[in-house]
Amino acid sequence: PLGERMPGRHLRRVEPPAPPARSMRLLRAERDALENAVLEGKPEANARMRAQGKRTARERLELLLDTGSFTELEMFRRHQARGLKVDETRPHSDGVVVGSGTIDGRRVFVYAQDFTICGGSLGAAHAAKIHKVMDLALAAGAPIVALNDSGGARIQEGVLSLDGYGGIFRRQVEASGVIPQISVVLGPCAGGAAYSPALADFTFMVRDTANMYLTGPDVVAAVTGERVTHAELGGADVHATRSGVATFVHDDEDSCFEDVRYLLSLLPANNLETAPAGPTQGAVDDVRPALADIVPVEPNQPYDMRSVVAEIVDDEDYLEVHENWAANVLCAFGRVDGEVVGIVGNQPLVLAGVLDAAAAQKAARFVRFCDAFAIPLVTLVDVPGFLPGTEQEYAGVIRHGAKLLYAYCEASVPRIQVIVRKAYGGAYIVMDSRSIGADLALAWPTNEIAVMGAAGAVDILFRKELAAAPDPETLRDTLRAEYADQLTHPYYAAEHGLVDDIIDPTKTRAAIARGLAMLRTKRKQAPRRKHGNIPL
Ligand code: HXC
Repeated sequence: PLGERMPGRHLRRVEPPAPPARSMRLLRAERDALENAVLEGKPEANARMRAQGKRTARERLELLLDTGSFTELEMFRRHQARGLKVDETRPHSDGVVVGSGTIDGRRVFVYAQDFTICGGSLGAAHAAKIHKVMDLALAAGAPIVALNDSGGARIQEGVLSLDGYGGIFRRQVEASGVIPQISVVLGPCAGGAAYSPALADFTFMVRDTANMYLTGPDVVAAVTGERVTHAELGGADVHATRSGVATFVHDDEDSCFEDVRYLLSLLPANNLETAPAGPTQGAVDDVRPALADIVPVEPNQPYDMRSVVAEIVDDEDYLEVHENWAANVLCAFGRVDGEVVGIVGNQPLVLAGVLDAAAAQKAARFVRFCDAFAIPLVTLVDVPGFLPGTEQEYAGVIRHGAKLLYAYCEASVPRIQVIVRKAYGGAYIVMDSRSIGADLALAWPTNEIAVMGAAGAVDILFRKELAAAPDPETLRDTLRAEYADQLTHPYYAAEHGLVDDIIDPTKTRAAIARGLAMLRTKRKQAPRRKHGNIPL
């Protein structure tokens, strides 16, 4: 009857429900199978990559990042294109692997193009994935590393592909000077796609597999009749030695990724942080006897400026940037007493260390990078001047030299100039002289700073006297000695306050370490403006 208590009713066993068509277990198994299929990729295509000495996109990320640190995003994204010759299988990932991981425990964002899917070509979905990871990198204030291996704009997607590239370029410019951007070219990188490595702060290329050009050999042959191979037109060595497009070149991918990691270990995560410091080494009291013997006293004798750098930096450890391009100027990152510095030096081994158009461009870009990322600058000066001649003038050495001048004038990071030997004319000014804003100018007793060397100066100043002299050679020698005595003696600049100290060369490392400590809290406010107008 109604209302009567039914003892034990609530304990009655309920029949188990029929197994559902969809359970969490099945859904998970389905998901994992799909993930595994995406991770496995196309075995034949992967084998083709390996046969060419290349690694797959995911293998590359494993090599680059700390083990197990990679978090992939948008693995299941597929293109939405329809029509002519589109890949109807709509492969997941759409030819690019994006996400984030760590390098030496520090956060980075990455994307790696996968040539095995649609030739790594860039369509709307592919580009959207890259855009997303770039946005995340900027928001998180962490470096971005791009691994390029692509046939370029996905032809089947028309203007949507071009729009995708534009979105990458715009983001790169927005992130410039905020987070370090590294581009690694590991396969073809043709047409406008090459502007992405060009906009990055540092570009790595691998020999034999990487190519970069705006128009390929076929188009070159059709338009100009010139016949060139891919390597001759845009191989790694061409860009590392002639065009300056590649900052670093490597024989294989493994050593390339090792150097990407090394470079990142020297850079801050963003423009609000400082580069990771190494252990202090008591450098402020260091004496390096070898420094007394590296630089010959005679101004024209060559020597390797890298030997000086090795004696100044911690553990003789430094990373040279653009080592094979414009080698008459040397640019390198290293640490002094733990603190990362950017070193710019003339290189007397190459073209006697003169500055030319290419050297000025190389050093200017390096100086601007250091300034953007709060890396102090140490400038080692031994420069006879700018390279004379029509070739240089026609190449716009004035315009390019002005870039270096501009870059230094603008730099607000601590700046230490060390004049190890000669410093003549405009090149003296450009190599971070006191007049353009060096905070500390040091010089060795070998320094010789003047408008020009004694020989040239005497010939100009005393042309008439020399022409009229019965013994011009003796007069010339006397006048040169007098000139050197009065105008280029090692204490002349110091007497006028343009050099802070004449230092014992063996104490150069110590003097730089003391200077860096003194300038660590340097702040410099520039007047407000939209931006300057660097001569480009
Ligand atoms: C669509 C592409 C593609 C592209 C390659 N593939 N490039 N699909 N759009 N741009 C496809 C191929 O059809 C092929 O698909 C697969 O990728 C592998 O390519 P292969 O030619 O078999 O490889 P390989 O012999 O190694 O030659 C690689 C290559 C060549 C040299 C890159 O594919 C090539 O020349 N591609 C075109 C390059 C190009 O002109 N891109 C446009 C540049 S202009 P299947 O299905 O057969 O496996 C540009 C503008 C950017 O990018 C503008 C930005 C502002």
